Amino acid sequence: MIGNFKRNMGYIFGFMSFIIMIITGFLPLILGEKVLSGWWMISHATVAPVFSIFLAVGALFWVKSTGFGFNNGSESKCAKKIVWVFLILFIPNTLSILFSMNTWFPSATQYSLLSIHFYTAIAMFVLAGLYLNFSHNKK
Ligand code: HEM
Repeated sequence: MIGNFKRNMGYIFGFMSFIIMIITGFLPLILGEKVLSGWWMISHATVAPVFSIFLAVGALFWVKSTGFGFNNGSESKCAKKIVWVFLILFIPNTLSILFSMNTWFPSATQYSLLSIHFYTAIAMFVLAGLYLNFSHNKK
């Protein structure tokens, strides 16, 4: 079975890939770009599958170690709710950008999909911060 060390390394790499997603997603906009392009886009899109795999595997290990219900495990209810909302938001975050990158929808819809990607990304960023705050509280 996978040991604690390997699991924690997985969490750390997953967290690091999330930080790279945040930096490569938001920094170009903060620096005045209208959309991602060049190395920003290449880095963002390259780390995206790595982040997605770490998130999926990490979510399974997290549920295994802390339990499915809000009252199981040692983590506070609040921290668990935050993780669940984060995991659920990942679905529109990814699907919106995947659907916006092909020609299935007209360009107005593609813009809306990009906005969904943008706003869910902000929400995930805030939730990650809240989790780091609330995960210190044991129940
Ligand atoms: C894991 C799957 C993800 C994929 C495949 C992905 C892909 C992309 C792509 C291709 C763009 C450029 C869109 C464009 O300029 O037309 C983009 C933009 C962006 N991404 Fe992601 N991304 C993912 C996850 C994330 C995450 C986790 C965050 C941050 C929490 C994030 C934050 C952003 C931001 C802020 C933008 C700029 C949005 C805008 O220009 O309005 N992305 N993403």
